[in-house]
Amino acid sequence: MNDILMECWQLGKDYSSGTRMVRAVKDVSLWLKRGYFTAIMGPSGSGKTTLLNLIGTLDVPTHGKLFFEGVAVDSLNDDQLADFRRENIGFVFQLFNLIPSLNVMENVMIPLLPFRNELSFDLEERAKELIEMIGLGERFDHLPGELSGGEQQRVAIARAMINHPKLILADEPTGNLDTGMGKEVMNSLKQLKEEQGTTILLVTHDVNIASHASEILNIKDGMLVS
Ligand SMILES: Nc1ncnc2c1ncn2[C@@H]1O[C@H](COP(=O)(O)OP(=O)(O)O)[C@@H](O)[C@H]1O
Ligand SMILES: [Mg+2]
Repeated sequence: MNDILMECWQLGKDYSSGTRMVRAVKDVSLWLKRGYFTAIMGPSGSGKTTLLNLIGTLDVPTHGKLFFEGVAVDSLNDDQLADFRRENIGFVFQLFNLIPSLNVMENVMIPLLPFRNELSFDLEERAKELIEMIGLGERFDHLPGELSGGEQQRVAIARAMINHPKLILADEPTGNLDTGMGKEVMNSLKQLKEEQGTTILLVTHDVNIASHASEILNIKDGMLVS
């Protein structure tokens, strides 16, 4: 098996706002090694979210190419792309994005609920296992509002792992948390990565968070810089 999970070749994204053109991401080439934890660090506005969304196929690049396990992502149609994301990628966002009216179990299972009869594993067992791994085994039936911010983000990480993704993409996952909770979230993320062998790409403006990664890349004005 090739040890490169994903390749990006000269990815670029331009936005036009009025008469002005913003080059949010410029010629970014990078390789994500299987099982590695890579962080991309850069200040606000440097293009981190745009780049992560391109890599997660949530957004379409203006130019450049993406390969996942050697397959050109732009060769997939919209349905295939949705399947591809569901099968391979888990997303973690800054604002957790849990559903307030659903309990911990339900929030973790929700991405796969519509597909529960097509899965090769038991959805409830998988959700329970993940919730226990993040240390919330006593809180299955709690609502997000009954949890701390750090606990909510750990639930969001369990949700991102529900589909056994090969790649986790995390956008400033600790940006809304204090230092202590940020550390707990990073520990949960790293623990799940080790146990599941998942590849992680995380973007952050925070050097303390980036320092958890095995490799740090820097982004400035949409470009990777050394
Ligand atoms: N939908 C959009 N339309 C126009 N400009 C955008 C859009 N999204 C992002 N940008 C611009 O692209 C640049 C990079 O933004 P972003 O990727 O959100 O940076 P970061 O996540 O590092 O803060 C910024 O100048 C931002 O204003
Ligand atoms: Mg951002």
